[in-house]
Amino acid sequence: MSSELSAPKTKPRIRPLPERLINKIAAGEVVERPASVVKELVENALDAGAARIEIAIERSGTRLIKIVDNGCGIDEDQIEIAFSRHATSKLSELKDLDYITSYGFRGEALPSIASVSRLRMVSRTADSPAGTEVIFEGGVLQSKKPAAAPVGTTVEVENLFFNTPARRKFLKAETTEARHISRVAVALAIANPLIGFSYSLNERSVFSLPAGLDLAQRVPALLAPGRKFVAVSGSMGAVAVSGYVAPPELAQNSRNSQYIFVNGRFVQSAVLAHALVAGYGELLPKGLYPAGALLVTVDPAEVDVNVHPAKTEIRLARERDVHDAVYRIVKEALRGDAVIPSLPVRAAPTDVSHGSSAPPRDWGGRQSNLIPGMGAPPADSSALKALYQPPPAPYEDSSAVEPRVDPGTGEILSEPAPSSPPADGADAAAPELLGRLGGLYLLFQSGDDLLVVDQHAAHERVLFEQTMRQMDKEGATSQQLLMPVNVELGPEQMTLFEEARSLLAQSGFLAAEFGERAVRVEGIPAVFGGRSPEKAFRAILDDVASLTRSGYDLKKAIAQSLACRAAVMAGDRLSDREASALVEALFKCENRFACPHGRPTIVRINRRQLDRQFGRS
Ligand SMILES: Nc1ncnc2c1ncn2[C@@H]1O[C@H](COP(=O)(O)OP(=O)(O)OP(=O)(O)O)[C@@H](O)[C@H]1O
Ligand SMILES: [Mg+2]
Repeated sequence: MSSELSAPKTKPRIRPLPERLINKIAAGEVVERPASVVKELVENALDAGAARIEIAIERSGTRLIKIVDNGCGIDEDQIEIAFSRHATSKLSELKDLDYITSYGFRGEALPSIASVSRLRMVSRTADSPAGTEVIFEGGVLQSKKPAAAPVGTTVEVENLFFNTPARRKFLKAETTEARHISRVAVALAIANPLIGFSYSLNERSVFSLPAGLDLAQRVPALLAPGRKFVAVSGSMGAVAVSGYVAPPELAQNSRNSQYIFVNGRFVQSAVLAHALVAGYGELLPKGLYPAGALLVTVDPAEVDVNVHPAKTEIRLARERDVHDAVYRIVKEALRGDAVIPSLPVRAAPTDVSHGSSAPPRDWGGRQSNLIPGMGAPPADSSALKALYQPPPAPYEDSSAVEPRVDPGTGEILSEPAPSSPPADGADAAAPELLGRLGGLYLLFQSGDDLLVVDQHAAHERVLFEQTMRQMDKEGATSQQLLMPVNVELGPEQMTLFEEARSLLAQSGFLAAEFGERAVRVEGIPAVFGGRSPEKAFRAILDDVASLTRSGYDLKKAIAQSLACRAAVMAGDRLSDREASALVEALFKCENRFACPHGRPTIVRINRRQLDRQFGRS
């Protein structure tokens, strides 16, 4: 046996750890990085009732973290106690722990921070003529003396982690630490819109927000200045959700601009972050995340914030309900009009604008002036109405299950299938076709706004919803082939065909096995027009194979593939009527703002944006 493991010669003595060491150990948990110091100190300022808080950071907090507040201050005879462990003015009785309404409650932050830095605090209460200054170094009080000061508290933390080299070494690059600090600063400023906040980094102002703003002003000011956010507000059972979320076009490829609060506390919660994204549904392409701030309120007795020393993790008693509430309320907020103006569309009054004299390009191997899947563009708007009314019943989506969350781990077990509301708003002005751009975009005027429609994405959406509905009901129109074609398939494709056969038939593919390795195709969906039946059939099988591998159910995979393959392409020239009819059909869709892949169908450029660009506002 090695000597290290052999029993010590002297009997070990059990002694309490010295307080300084305890604090340093606690600091390891409470003060993970400079951003944690910022968070703790600003939270103290908020708990002290400050109306203005200044945050100044130098060298990502390793040189200086300075927080100035005009809160209640600390009395001279209390100031040292504030730095002793488990001393707090915020929690006195045991039952308080279940009803925490202040940010602080452990009485750990100040002693922890002081033990791993050089800390100077100057504080004055309103009924004291002068303030008191204390300086701590490595947790040891160096000096305490009266100091002239306004009412409130200033804390300066220098040389963070000077006596914990391991922690200092593990700090990330300066920019990373600065990003963490900025996130904390933004979160606290959002959670407290009435409080004035300023934040400077290396003596340059990052933001400076006056007191008394409401959330509607503060969220855009911090996340996307000048942009309009969508208000979220509602409640379900005991859960209330409010806040502002960004329109889909401001989505980002990280979650960095998502701020979620539970009972005012900024939290990291995979479950709630998921609920927010799920609320956007198909409005967001996969892999993009919405920006926004959500304030979730639950019964304080149902949240445990005492899970982790940094208090950013929480445990929710009814996580599933809270997830549901966030998902539904966000989804509701993003209903149609809030995102892009709701436009009931009529056909362009006459077919006189540019390009109408040119015959439509032959796309997909046939001459046609029809947009497949939309019937013949009727000659007048009443016929158009007849064609598209009544508005389609929402398709039943077999995958439209509620998100299921594992109550134990908080893991999302299945994604909800999002959808958006039916089109409405019958009295708005109809968009007018202005022209085309780059062979792909259709340009419409709607009021003072310019709508840019991606003709392929728009048509995909129309065909997708139409196919989904038809597969549920009577089945899509099939075009019988004069000459049936035999298509040879590999074993895997054959199995897929057998599995999908009846749904394929509902989508318009009339096919039957022909021997062991082949399928005889006798009809293809009419929307394919004169295209090669074999190519269409193979393309659909290939798409469906890969879509189902990535988790789509069969029906949705067929509809999506069919929509994508049959939709007009970039470069296909639509007549004015076709273009108007397409947009009309699009606005009748359940989810008109995104194609089935989640890419936008419409982008709006509003007059105000243009005015700003031209220096007119
Ligand atoms: N900026 C401030 N203004 C007024 N009082 C303060 C300020 N900062 C700290 N205090 C006082 O010092 C006490 C100790 O602060 P500390 O942050 O260590 O603990 P806490 O906020 O009570 O709990 P927690 O450790 O959870 O943050 C507080 O309870 C509060 O009374
Ligand atoms: Mg505190």
